[in-house]
This record gives sequence, C-alpha cells and structure tokens, in this order.
Amino acid sequence: MTSSSRTQVGIVGAGPAGLLLSYLLSLRGIDSIVVENRSRAYCEARQRAGLLEAGTVELLRAIGLAARMDAEGLEHGGIYLQFAGERHHLDFRDLTGGRWVTIYAQTEIVKDLIRARLAAGAHIEFEVSGTEVSDLDTDRPVLRFTDAAGTRHEVSCDAIAGCDGFHGVCRDSMPPGLIQVAERGYPYSWLGILATVPPSTDELIYCRHEDGFALHTMRTPQVSRLYLQVSADEDIAGWPDDRIWAVLRHRLEVPGWELKDGPITEKAVSPMRSFVAFPMRYRRLFLAGDAAHIVPPTGAKGLNLAIADVTVLAAALARLLRDKDPEPADAYSDTCLSRVWRATHFSWWMTSMLHVDPNRDPFGAELQLSQLRYVVSSRAAATTLAENYTGYFPLHWP
Ligand code: DHB
Repeated sequence: MTSSSRTQVGIVGAGPAGLLLSYLLSLRGIDSIVVENRSRAYCEARQRAGLLEAGTVELLRAIGLAARMDAEGLEHGGIYLQFAGERHHLDFRDLTGGRWVTIYAQTEIVKDLIRARLAAGAHIEFEVSGTEVSDLDTDRPVLRFTDAAGTRHEVSCDAIAGCDGFHGVCRDSMPPGLIQVAERGYPYSWLGILATVPPSTDELIYCRHEDGFALHTMRTPQVSRLYLQVSADEDIAGWPDDRIWAVLRHRLEVPGWELKDGPITEKAVSPMRSFVAFPMRYRRLFLAGDAAHIVPPTGAKGLNLAIADVTVLAAALARLLRDKDPEPADAYSDTCLSRVWRATHFSWWMTSMLHVDPNRDPFGAELQLSQLRYVVSSRAAATTLAENYTGYFPLHWP
C-alpha cells in the first residue's frame, strides 16, 4: 500500500544542505519534508570539515542558529603557510579589513539543525530506502520513498531539492543530456585523523613538505584534527597510529616547535576531486551542495558552498511559491555557479600549490615554491588568498 501526501518542498538528504534548506523555508512559512537514507546517529557522527567562512557564520547568526557555535566555535584571524622548512603567518583580519573564519565542525551544525527542526515539529524521515523523484516535467514533481517501517510514500510537491550528495539519485534523475560535467582528478588522497590532544598551534598550519602536504587543524581546545597527503589508492591498514604521528611530526617540523600527540579516535582516507555539474536545476528540481559540485578539501569550501546554495535556493523558492515570481528560481543555477566556480578555482589552486606531485616534476615543484614565496611576500598575493579563504562572495539572507 502506498501512502499519498502533499508538501511544498520535498528535500532529499539530511546533510547540512537539506537540513538548512528546510530550516530557512520554515522561516518563510514554507512546508517541507526531508528524507534521508542514513540513520540520525550516522548523520550526527559523520566527520567532515569544520571551517566556516565569515559569511556562513553571519548567516547562522542572522537566522538564530548560532548559540552553540558562538559558545564553542574558535575564531581564527589567519593561518600559517609552511614550506621549505619555514613557517609564515598570514593575517586575514589585516589583509581583508577584518574578515576571519570560525572552526566549528560540520557534524555540530548538523546536530544543531536536526535538534532545531525536530523541536519545531518538522518532518524528517531517516533510514528511508527506494528514494525516487519523478514527474519532473510538470509543476507537481513527486517524491517517493519507503520509510523505516516499510511503508511506501508518494509525496506530491511544488518543488524538489536534491541535497543528496555526490552519489545521490537526484542528479541522475535529470533528463538525459541536460547536465554537463567539468571535472579534475588529483593523484593523491588525504589521510585524516581526529585525536584527543590539545592543538599544538593557535591557527591552522598548511604545510608543503618535499614528502607531501600536511595540515594541522582542530575541533576544540582538547581535540586536534590533522591531515596528511598519501597516495591515491592508500590503504588505511598500512597506517598504525605511530606511523601517522611520525610522518606528521616529520612534515610539520620547524625549529623550536613541537607536535603533541595523543590517542587517535578516528582515521580515514578520502579521495580528492573537483567536479561541477551544470545547470543545477531542471524546472522544479534543484540540486544543492555535493549533488552538484565537489571540491578537494584544501581550503574547506565544500560546506560553505552547500550553505550558500541553499540560502539562494530558499529565497528563490519563497519568491516562486509565495509570490508566484519565477525569476530568482530561473536564475538559481547561474547565481550559484559563479560562487561555485570561484571556490572551485581557489580549492584547485590551494591543492595544486601545496601537494607534491607523485611524479616529482621539478618544474612543477619550483612553480609551487615560487608561488608560495610570492604569497608570503606580496601583500597583493596574500590578500588574494585571504579574501578567497574567508569567503569572497557576500551571502544575502533577506
Ligand atoms: C579543515 C579541513 C580543511 O580541508 C581545511 O582546509 C581546513 C580545515 C578541518 O577539517 O578543520
């Protein structure tokens, strides 16, 4: 038996994009349902990046979702860039006229959003299966899924948002031939760890070492997060904790500084790719976040882009559904893609400048070092990095 219902916006995916979209729509009086394959516990535990652009922080404050972030988040006014055995500081506040970033993990934002939505009585279905979107060439697209108890549902919607990640069903449900893809692979991966040890640095260290990239970031004053460049097909089984700390210590080493180690509570290898699918919309099906674009992690743009997409989308859907004005919805893809391509370029640039080519190309290595020296010696070059890192495009929430 199939249960039929109606809502205004069907949202596929309870990651930060889908949850925030449902939150923003509710502020505009628009109903939605969120469906998610995974369990609530899985969504709340999934480790992702944890760096918010200033505009993302300002948005979360403007919509009343910042209480815990303001209490627990760590504001950083710059980063360290390390190469050729020397560590240099970039002061973002000075370079950008006061911009900064905040360390607050994506997984904490997801927890805050789930709590806020459920407290407001929102409809979120976890552990669904068989999710499908159809009737996409009409103004009443349909979302189908089977709930955790086994009941099949058919929800008639005014619009559907595909916030279902890179492997989700929504992008592939677009009409054949509509979507174009531009992508780039990288010949390396990141091995990321979470460790119960106070960070050994006050701000993030991005390090190009002859043996490969390393990044020291953090989650809280008691928890460090670190990443290492490893080969593209690296097997985590070959990385016992001692080896990870030894390699991190070797790459991040500078005279007079010491890396503190501690118990590793999580470790994983993540591949790196750049991927943009466009347009991000077909009629009343809109893609947001990783469903439409992936950036390599260097610079932590993925979450910020997802939040920017749904901020644009919520405003566009409010105009479409409440005011019958299709213009912002028609502009949705182009509006998002200009930000997406800026972040795609920046993430590619940071990645290319800081990682070691496994083919040991001496020409490429000298170009990287020249670019790094330029960034730390020219105010213009440093400002380019700083304004992209802290978030170049303003985020408007009306
Ligand atoms: C983090 C991840 C990144 O990729 C980055 O560039 C900065 C910070 C993080 O997980 O904290």
